[in-house]
Amino acid sequence: MSTLLERVSAGALPRHVAIIMDGNGRWAEARGLPRTAGHQAGALAAERLIRFAGTRLPIPYLTLFAFSSENWARPQAEVAFLMNLLADFLRARLAEFVEAGVRLRVIGDLERLPASLRDLIENGVAATAAGDRLQLTIALSYGARQELAAAARRIASDVAAGRLELSEVGEEAIADQLETSGIPDPDLVIRTSGEERLSNFLLWQVAYAELRFADVLWPDFTPAEYLRTLAAYQTRKRRFGTVEGSGE
Ligand code: FPP
Repeated sequence: MSTLLERVSAGALPRHVAIIMDGNGRWAEARGLPRTAGHQAGALAAERLIRFAGTRLPIPYLTLFAFSSENWARPQAEVAFLMNLLADFLRARLAEFVEAGVRLRVIGDLERLPASLRDLIENGVAATAAGDRLQLTIALSYGARQELAAAARRIASDVAAGRLELSEVGEEAIADQLETSGIPDPDLVIRTSGEERLSNFLLWQVAYAELRFADVLWPDFTPAEYLRTLAAYQTRKRRFGTVEGSGE
């Protein structure tokens, strides 16, 4: 892996990688285990990747889709298990994040989360505020359409109150109202498990992102697999809608 790490490190790296961690349930089912065992293995895979991303590669932004707005419709026991898993993750990893310079940010409708998890998030965000090596954004109770609707409501109310001119409502004003404000758009979106969908993830922000669909289930997504995905990304030419030679 070290040669691949060296090769990938020497190439043009994305600034922001966003990952849809999919396939925990299938990973567990394939082993005759309950779905919750898949989520547990998924949390370990997330920890492994964060540790690798935070220490081995200079990619400053990593975003993980941990729980969607639509995931609330899963069986109550599975939802409760995931909430506990996220709380355990925050409790167990906080010191390591601070040590490694990981800055935590959480996007999504946090009002719907259990109060104890909200407190852990607030505490984690405050404790890691000085982290300058990796900004880790966890999308939790997150949906891009909901995020865009909320942004539209805030913009409409600013216009109605005379705080914003209609002519000022452009791409920048919209991006400023999104929860990702201040974070560069993802250059690369990875989805595991072979599914090829965006599932309401960062729909505005991924306008020009490269998409990679990895054929492994999330618990099997190792740092080596991550490096192979980055190597494939490096073979792509990004033109941002322009023609060869005039863009990046
Ligand atoms: C998708 O697999 C995964 C989820 C809905 C939960 C993601 C959560 C984790 C990876 C663990 C916690 C995260 C962190 C950051 C510690 P699925 O259940 O939809 O799998 P399936 O499509 O095979 O059923």
